[in-house]
Amino acid sequence: MTETIQLPDATARKEADLDPTLDLEAEINRLRKERNAIILAHYYQDDEIQDLADFVGDSLDLSRKAAATDADVIVFCGVRFMGEVAKILSPQKTVLIPDAEAGCSLEDSCPPDQFKAYREKYPDHLALTYINCSADVKALSDIIVTSSNAEAIVNQLPKDQPILFAPDRHLGAYIKRKTGRDNMELWPGSCIIHEQFSERELIKLKVRHPNARVAAHPECPEQILQQADHVGSTRMLLDYVTNDPAQEFIIATEPHIIHQMQLDAPGKTFIPAPGADGQCDCANCPFMAKNTLEKLYLCMVNDAPAVTIPETLRVDALKPLERMLDMSGPAPAKTEAA
Ligand code: 13P
Repeated sequence: MTETIQLPDATARKEADLDPTLDLEAEINRLRKERNAIILAHYYQDDEIQDLADFVGDSLDLSRKAAATDADVIVFCGVRFMGEVAKILSPQKTVLIPDAEAGCSLEDSCPPDQFKAYREKYPDHLALTYINCSADVKALSDIIVTSSNAEAIVNQLPKDQPILFAPDRHLGAYIKRKTGRDNMELWPGSCIIHEQFSERELIKLKVRHPNARVAAHPECPEQILQQADHVGSTRMLLDYVTNDPAQEFIIATEPHIIHQMQLDAPGKTFIPAPGADGQCDCANCPFMAKNTLEKLYLCMVNDAPAVTIPETLRVDALKPLERMLDMSGPAPAKTEAA
């Protein structure tokens, strides 16, 4: 797989060098101003990173923001593939990520050489690939999709067009059910955190909270989605809990989004969906959790880890991303204004 991250060099400052009395938030704000930087964060980031970010969003809105910003530096607090997308869309900008090890289990489930062989097996199929994948896999794809736009993009394709959908089999199966397509081949990948939810424990929780609505991300397995009142991307779930008159919601996705739900819908109650032992901690994404305020500060001081993508790979990966943006319709007002 192509290396896309330039790591800090030997002279870089390290976490152990930091003065423990340093006001990290003030320092990050100073650097943000000095460098004309924008801090983008996914809803799965720690609350303190979400609070400090210039913009918090789902994968699609973050991509749009990275493509449209006039900042010189994009500091991307999410996982590695999101930083890569920012660099692919905005190659003239410096793109920094707090931790180069912030990967993604879906990306890991789809090595580029295996994906290439899979494509060759189905030459008549169009490769629709979930944005949670490497730049190499994007470059081998026809159209990138996110959980916000996958259904709408599939609906724009001719009904008889065979499709390869990678790497999330649960999102793929959900889209297949929603669009009524039987000509979709699904890559057998999944997200480790959305696999953790327990149908049995969720049913028990619903019995205890009969007025609660269940909001679930389409990366969840089908048996969890069958229990849901609403299925959608992180932004769609946020819009749902804000606009629905219900006061209590069970949330079947990475639980850090609850911070934004509490901000957007104050007074409502949000309960994380349970794992097999009835607890929710197992649904915390270990990759998203790698980013901390310390690492966010240090990447701005060190100018690394920085995303660097070879130009030929970038140009190849850009095409299916641009198709996605063209087929996604206008950005929501909240994204434009932020
Ligand atoms: P969305 O941001 O599209 O909701 O997807 C969540 C996710 O998979 C983040 O890695």
